[in-house]
Amino acid sequence: MLNKQSPKDTKAWKQLAEHKKELEGSHLREMFQDDPHRVERFTLETNELFLDYSKNLITNKTIGLLVDLAEEMGVSEGIKGMFSGEKINETEGRAVLHVALRDRSQSHRLVDGVDVAKEVQAVLDRMQSFANKIESGNWKGYTGKKIRDVVNIGIGGSDLGVLMVTKALTPYHIKDRTVHFVSNVDGAHIKQTLEGLNPETTLFIIASKSFTTLETMSNAHSARRWFLSNGGSENDIRKHFVAVSTNQQLVTQFGIDEVNMFGFWDWVGGRYSLSSAVGLSVILAVGYDRFLELLEGMHLIDSHFAATPIATNMPVILALLGIWYGNFWGAETEAVLPYAQNLEYLPAYLQQASMESNGKSMGRDGELVDYQTGAILWGGQGTNSQHSFFQLLHQGTQLIPCDFIIVANPDHELEGHHRILVANAIAQTEALMIGKTEQQVRSELEKKGHTPATIDRLTPFRIFAGNRPSNSIMIRKLTPRALGSLIALYEHKIFVQGLIWNVYSFDQFGVELGKVLAKSIEEELANISEVGSHDNSTLALIEQYKVWQEKE
Ligand code: F6P
Repeated sequence: MLNKQSPKDTKAWKQLAEHKKELEGSHLREMFQDDPHRVERFTLETNELFLDYSKNLITNKTIGLLVDLAEEMGVSEGIKGMFSGEKINETEGRAVLHVALRDRSQSHRLVDGVDVAKEVQAVLDRMQSFANKIESGNWKGYTGKKIRDVVNIGIGGSDLGVLMVTKALTPYHIKDRTVHFVSNVDGAHIKQTLEGLNPETTLFIIASKSFTTLETMSNAHSARRWFLSNGGSENDIRKHFVAVSTNQQLVTQFGIDEVNMFGFWDWVGGRYSLSSAVGLSVILAVGYDRFLELLEGMHLIDSHFAATPIATNMPVILALLGIWYGNFWGAETEAVLPYAQNLEYLPAYLQQASMESNGKSMGRDGELVDYQTGAILWGGQGTNSQHSFFQLLHQGTQLIPCDFIIVANPDHELEGHHRILVANAIAQTEALMIGKTEQQVRSELEKKGHTPATIDRLTPFRIFAGNRPSNSIMIRKLTPRALGSLIALYEHKIFVQGLIWNVYSFDQFGVELGKVLAKSIEEELANISEVGSHDNSTLALIEQYKVWQEKE
């Protein structure tokens, strides 16, 4: 059972609130000047990742108190509970065991009397054999041709992770095969994806844990219709449609052969399902061995997370820093800034992972919380983002802690590019921290030959207060293994934050209401049912839609 106390009732929380006042007047610039060993104390390293968290508004005392907070909130017990298969997803009565999906060191792991390690391996074996058949051409389309295009149809956890990983691992893509992703129920998404595809050589993966998600099922049916109206027959469906799901009954009802379904389990949450059979599209994009490397990278961090004391535990430190800013410094958002074109989808993936997990206001004790929980996560790639929203990071009114993700070795040989990219990332962390003082601005303007009056007028606008915190996460190279480690790092950060915020991180009841309302409004828009009782704004929108429908 998880601890259910409010973090505000801990001794450490109160001490942290006091300690924050002590730090209010300090500047990171001076903290570095005063302490030559700061970096040594505030960096951590694993095989694939290097975390520098020295550019944060922290001292030894801060970390000590944050560690106390984690201890008082039972973080160590929570971690043990997750790894041992306790039903810590209490609102759904489930264990949370995505770590078992990538732990290939154990040949047995019992959950409710079932050996899940064996089951995990069995699904992996089936995925491997399926991928081999696709690769060798033994798996043929209905006219005997090899599969060239794969379309993963899924949404949320059945899309964002595999999309992000597939893009991130672009240099590892199997030649002569393209993996596409369709998620949005906006018909434009599937229409544009199918344009130019040949049904004879296209395989659809319908990825849905529940196999009921409206968007996915609408897209799956459209894909099916496209296939049937472009030469395929009902009998051929089994050669072109496979499923990833926990719902065998609905998969078979859709017409997908049971043998072409890759299963997973209720102890794998949707947004934590990337390392389950949901990863099939990744396997088809980069190959089974690369997928295993991704799992190995995740397992490296899982093991670090399970075995490392709180004060040097990388995911825990990241989690605690987020709490420090969100709950004591008033930060409402945090930015993730990958300096890697191929990590384009990382912020979107982390948005679901973090905000669907910890966007909760009901405490585990059944009382509404009276402190901020899940931060608003957002971000974008460097260097593009520097020319877009970085102005606000540097001189805006909000405090926005940033994670800079830097890749040490590129996967191309283009001269100059990578050094410029990395230099920019590092420079931004420095600029955010040191800022630019009035004195520096004045002397710069003087050197440019401005008059004293102009200098007085311009100076205030050119001052950067600095003192803006960031983490730098350096990745050796964007390999499957390193990427796996990065993903697991964030997964566990999110888990620890949920433990401390006293919320249940593994349910998502908040997304249900909109789904239910959409169903009835859809019927009203289609004139299947009378327009029911709604507020005036909703009624007006329904009416406007109908008016414009008639005109078009
Ligand atoms: O948005 C709610 C949600 O349930 C997510 O948690 C999940 O990842 C997504 O929908 C897709 O669900 P499924 O895999 O069951 O189609």
